[in-house]
Amino acid sequence: DLIAAARDAGVGHAAAKTRSEPWPNDPYPAGSGIAERYVTLRALLAGDLDPDDLVSALQDSGLRGMGGAGFPTGQKWDLVRGAEGSVKYAICNADESEPGTFKDRQILATQPHLVLEGLLCGMAVVGAEEGWVFIRHEYGPEEHVLREELEALRAAGVVGPDACGSGRRLNVEIFVSPGGYILGEETALIECMEGHRGEPRNKPPFPGVYGLHGRPTLMNSVETFADLPVIAQRGAQWWKDQGRGDSVGWKFFAVSGHVEKPDVYCVPMGTTVRELIELAGGVSGGRAVGAVQPGGASSNFIGPELLDLELDFGTAAKAGTMLGSGALVVLAEGTDELAAATNVLRFFRNESCGKCVPCRVGSTKAHEILRGVLDEGVPLDGPRRARILELEEVLRKTSICGLGQVALGPVISVLGLDKGGAAARPQPKPEGAAGQPER
Ligand code: NAI
Ligand code: SF4
Repeated sequence: DLIAAARDAGVGHAAAKTRSEPWPNDPYPAGSGIAERYVTLRALLAGDLDPDDLVSALQDSGLRGMGGAGFPTGQKWDLVRGAEGSVKYAICNADESEPGTFKDRQILATQPHLVLEGLLCGMAVVGAEEGWVFIRHEYGPEEHVLREELEALRAAGVVGPDACGSGRRLNVEIFVSPGGYILGEETALIECMEGHRGEPRNKPPFPGVYGLHGRPTLMNSVETFADLPVIAQRGAQWWKDQGRGDSVGWKFFAVSGHVEKPDVYCVPMGTTVRELIELAGGVSGGRAVGAVQPGGASSNFIGPELLDLELDFGTAAKAGTMLGSGALVVLAEGTDELAAATNVLRFFRNESCGKCVPCRVGSTKAHEILRGVLDEGVPLDGPRRARILELEEVLRKTSICGLGQVALGPVISVLGLDKGGAAARPQPKPEGAAGQPER
C-alpha cells in the first residue's frame, strides 16, 4: 500500500514497505484504525490522564532523545510545560539526513499514527495549539503517508478546532524542508521555519524556552515521539524492562555498509554491535569486520575489538564513540578506512553552513590535506598529522553546532590519533568511499 501511495504521489523511490506485524514499540494491534488508536491522546484531552503523570512516566522510563544527543525526554517535556508564555509550539524533527541514517524514514512510513500521537500528546501536555512535522524534502512517500493520516485525523475530529470534542484546538501541519543537512539542527530548523537563512543559533537559550518565534517550543525527533504511546500505555517499568542489562527500551537502528541485509532493525537497547551485524546477515561476502561507525557519520569509527560493545548512550561514549543517530555503518576488512572517513569529512565540508570560520575553512583545509594523501600519494607525515589534529581540536572547541564539532572525529579515529597512537595508514583500495567522484 505504501509503495502504491508513493507511486500515486509521483515519487519514484519508495523506502516504505509493508509489515505484517507492528514494531515492538507499537501498543496497537495490526490493522487498528483511528478509532482504536490515539488512546493516550484521548485520555489526556478527556482529563482521564493527568499531564503531570505522563511527564512523570516519561521521566521514570528513562527515554532519551533518539535524534542523536540523548537528552532526557521527560526533562525536556517538563521544561517546556513549565516555561513561561501563553503561546507555545511543538515540532517533530523529521529532517533525518545523517549519512547512513534511515530509521526515521521507516518509522514514518509504518508508524505515522505513533509519531502523530506523540506529537499531539506533547502539544496537549505543554499547552501548544500549533504543531508541525518538519520533514526532509526527499521523503516524499513518507510525507504522503503522514498527510493521509492527518487528513483522516481531521475527518475524525481528533485534530482540529475541537480536538476529540475537548474544546481544545490542536492543529498539525507538515513543513517540507527546502533541503540541506544543517536544517536538521534544531535551531537552524527554527530559523528556516521563520523564513530566515537556515543557520544554527548559539545555544543556550535552548528551543525549550526560546524556540520558534521566540516562544517555548517542544522539539523531539520522529523515534522519540513514536515511543511515547507505548510508554504511556504499558508504563515506565515495562519500557525499562525491554532493554538489556542497565539499558532501557527499544531502539531502531539503520544497518548499512558491508552487510548482507542492510535494513532497519528494532532491537532492545543494549544489543551488541556483533548481534546487530548478525541480524543484518553478517558482513557481506563472509568477510571479517574492519571497522564500524555505530552512530552515523558523526560518530567515531571503532575497531573489531569492540564488536561486543553494548549499544547505548553511555557505553558508546565510554568506548570513545556515540550512539548518535542509530546508524550502524559496517566496513569490511580491507576497506580503505581513511578514504571512508575522508568521504564523511567531504560531506560535512559540503554541508557546512559557513557561519563559523573554523568549520567553513577548517573542514576545507583538512579535506585538501587528506585528498592529497589519498589521490596524489602525499605522505601522511608528522607535520600533516599534527595539522589534522590541530584542525580537529579547533573545530571541536570553537564551532557553534555539532556539524563542525564532529567533522574531523571519524578521521581522527581511523588514524588512531584519538588513542595517542599513530596507526599505519591502510593502503588505499578502490572500495568503500574511495574512488568516488570529487565534488
Ligand atoms: P544538543 O546536546 O545540543 O541538544 C540535544 C537536545 O537537548 C536539544 O533538543 C536541546 O535543545 C536539548 N537540550 C540540551 N541541553 C539542554 C538544556 N540545558 N536545557 C534544555 N534543553 C536542552 O545536541 P544537538 O546538536 O541537538 O544534536 C546533536 C546530535 O544530533 C548528534 O549527537 C548527532 O548524533 C545527531 N544528529 C542526527 C542527525 C539525524 O539525521 N538524525 C543528523 C545530524 C546529527
Ligand atoms: Fe554552520 Fe559549521 Fe558553524 Fe555549524 S559549525 S553553524 S555548520 S559553520
